[in-house]
Amino acid sequence: MNLPFAEPYKIKMVESLHRSSREERERWIREAKYNLFNLRSSQVFIDLLTDSGTGAMSDKQWSEMMLGDESYAGASSYFKLKEAINDITGFPHFLPTHQGRAAENVLFSVMVKEGDIVPGNAHFDTTKGHIEFRRAHAVDCTIDEAYDISLDHPFKGNVDLEKLERVLLGNPRERIPMIILTVTCNTSGGQPVSLRNIREVKAMADRFGIPLIFDAARFAENAWFIRKREEEFADWSIRDIVREMFRHGDAMTMSSKKDAIVNMGGFIGIRDIDLYRRASTYNILFEGYVTYGGMSGRDMNALARGLYEGTEYDYLEARVGQVARLGKKLRDHGVPVQYPFGGHAIFVDARRFLTRVPQEEYIAQKLAVELFLEGGVRGVEIGTLLADRDPATGKDRFPPLELVRLTIPRRVYTDNHMDYVAAALCNVWDRRDSITRGFRILYEAPILRHFTVELEPAG
Ligand code: F0G
Repeated sequence: MNLPFAEPYKIKMVESLHRSSREERERWIREAKYNLFNLRSSQVFIDLLTDSGTGAMSDKQWSEMMLGDESYAGASSYFKLKEAINDITGFPHFLPTHQGRAAENVLFSVMVKEGDIVPGNAHFDTTKGHIEFRRAHAVDCTIDEAYDISLDHPFKGNVDLEKLERVLLGNPRERIPMIILTVTCNTSGGQPVSLRNIREVKAMADRFGIPLIFDAARFAENAWFIRKREEEFADWSIRDIVREMFRHGDAMTMSSKKDAIVNMGGFIGIRDIDLYRRASTYNILFEGYVTYGGMSGRDMNALARGLYEGTEYDYLEARVGQVARLGKKLRDHGVPVQYPFGGHAIFVDARRFLTRVPQEEYIAQKLAVELFLEGGVRGVEIGTLLADRDPATGKDRFPPLELVRLTIPRRVYTDNHMDYVAAALCNVWDRRDSITRGFRILYEAPILRHFTVELEPAG
């Protein structure tokens, strides 16, 4: 008999979960004004809101916490992290920050100014936010295939080189401070960028003399997909692929809360000493002195260790495999999900799921709430609520896709939990025709409304 797959770790500490009744959940979600962000975590059975900062650290990471050096300047923890970053990514210089968006804030303070154009592959919300906050523009150059969620394509995070070239030819060189490559591309569903595409983007960036910056939150999952789907790299180690990816970058911003498996932290990896020096000033202003920048010594130690654990082949096999297990169960039942499955999440197409709910009644939010009512599972809406209103017309902006993201934390849930999630969503699928109305807004903030919005059932 072939031995079946099993996780390359065992569990040393457990955290109890509360299995609620449907009546409790109905009351809680009503009290939360049908906004899943307003729930207490104790009211959630399986929490798939995000994979950011929600992972389980290992015994070795926890033991590193005890070795943290909390000196203000020159802590041994800083040098341990510097060595790990250099070893894993190849970047010789680095600045610690408290999380990924802080890394964006520091780097963009040096590089992005009003009126600039920043092309990339579907920038993440905070990346776009930090660009637009500076009155610059983010231009999405992702391949069109990314937006057809059932189309089978191995690298839906790829940049369309013709789109990119049009942006580079159509604007003066000095208006384009950088090209950003997000690996994997969260916005398009945790979809990878191929090494071939990275090389081609880099060649074009060089031709125009423009720096290439990685948004590297899920770089290890990206390397996993390269190994699996790009023949040239089938025999390469994950760490060799990672170094080959980053070799093409001038800098990277990192949210360590994802692929480095820590609960808080981030950094900027930088190749050029001059850029490092200029960014250091902003790091000291916004984050803290350059040898701790928003992180305690113990957190830097745990992060240094996490960079190694997050790039282990066996771990990634379990990680990406667990996401795919959930995706496959849903797909086999007929539930419309993004395919191929992404590295960190399954994206459910709510418009094809709840066909009877009117577009202006927040279809994806309705589906997310139904999943919570069904089984106490919390996903997150990536649809009209998240898209906010058009600032000019004040009308809802209807995005091309209404999605519910089921985001899997690292090393936290078992396959039984995934089977439970799949069963809950399949139950909603089986009664989908009885769901005909969504929500009306009672209160909303002018921007980023999805975090605080208050809703009531429509009709
Ligand atoms: N870049 C990407 C691709 C991200 O997914 C995130 C965060 C960030 C940057 C910002 O990092 O949260 O540490 O400040 N994504 C989280 C999510 C919030 O749920 O996808 P941060």
